[in-house]
Amino acid sequence: MSEDFGPALMARLDEFAAFTDEPGVLTRFYLSPAHRRAADCLIGWMEEAGMTARLDAAGNVVGRYEGAQPGAPALLLGSHIDTIRNAGKYDGNYGVLAALAAVEALHRAGTRLPFAIEIVGFGDEEGVRFPVTMTGSRALAGRLDPAVLKLCDAEGVSIAEALTGFGGDPAALEGCARRPEELLAYVELHIEQGPVLEAAGLPAGIVTAINGASRFEVTLSGQSGHAGTVPMVLRRDAVAAAAEMILAIERLALETPDLVATVGRVSAQPGVVNVVPGGASFTIDLRSPSDAVRDAATGRLTEALGAIGERRRIGVVLRRTHDAAATACAPFLVTQLEAATRRAEVPVQRLPSGAGHDAMVIAALAPVGMLFLRCRDGLSHHPDESITAEDAGLGVRILLDFLRHFRLPGR
Ligand code: GLV
Ligand code: MN
Ligand code: MN
Repeated sequence: MSEDFGPALMARLDEFAAFTDEPGVLTRFYLSPAHRRAADCLIGWMEEAGMTARLDAAGNVVGRYEGAQPGAPALLLGSHIDTIRNAGKYDGNYGVLAALAAVEALHRAGTRLPFAIEIVGFGDEEGVRFPVTMTGSRALAGRLDPAVLKLCDAEGVSIAEALTGFGGDPAALEGCARRPEELLAYVELHIEQGPVLEAAGLPAGIVTAINGASRFEVTLSGQSGHAGTVPMVLRRDAVAAAAEMILAIERLALETPDLVATVGRVSAQPGVVNVVPGGASFTIDLRSPSDAVRDAATGRLTEALGAIGERRRIGVVLRRTHDAAATACAPFLVTQLEAATRRAEVPVQRLPSGAGHDAMVIAALAPVGMLFLRCRDGLSHHPDESITAEDAGLGVRILLDFLRHFRLPGR
């Protein structure tokens, strides 16, 4: 009878969810006090599991479990420990703590594999605090543009300042970058965040590719004025323009196969009841499995927003804050994850990922693979996100079995 990892892992996920910046709900933004407390706790758990663990300069937690030969290249596991506002407990955190449960099992059994295992708790997969995302994985992949350090959150705190307060080091980010020869591959477990596995009646599935994504910050400038005195025809109302633009964005996505578009944050300036808003800003998140579709949509969207702005005499500035190409998972990792899934007597289901993951960035450094776990009602980015203890434990068993059989292609 194989070990049941589910109950202990679920208890630990509950315990970890207590690290929040907003009591009563789970909100753990990149470089926040709760992020730091969660990172410290994770480092402690890693050390108990026989790993050496540290916080890197970008705020990632990095733990290492040596293989049979100390200093051997590592198989990298993990996911992210930052969350959205009012998050569920499993997005990101499941992948990190499931990987830790697998290493704990190896440690308990005194097993050393022919390679090292490293687990990363990435700091910034959600990209909800600063107008940039995947800062942690970009640093690890050596793809972090130092210019992002100047970007500020809604309170005007820059990434450089937040990183220093957190215990990271803006001057040492280059040192986070890993060399390709240090890593064999990156494998991430994650909840599916969609309904496919549940509909198929399957607890787990193997990811084939991750959809590409772009994010934009749109800033509109019109003219503020008195809400009672400025005639409608003379107004340059930035919020009315934003409303028309948002509907145009929705229409574009409805009319374009394989494209989803979301305006998730809207704000008005000065934002009071009796002033025609002269300023407005909103975000756009665009995703597609096809980079060509996403690029064409970006072009059409830029044109449409420009035309609306011109007609309404509103200045439009569209700034791209994130761009990640659609990313294929490495075929040898897909095959080996499938084999481990089959050995767990779970029928194999392949599926693409609509959500973004650190794996998209790490793909520039190492081959990447992902295993998805079913979640209830396909619900995610929501406090009611839910998985069963049975599925949670199964994910660890599949991962452990995958680790025990892992081979680089041709070896
Ligand atoms: C992260 O969860 C994303 O896909 O935006
Ligand atoms: Mn995630
Ligand atoms: Mn997420």
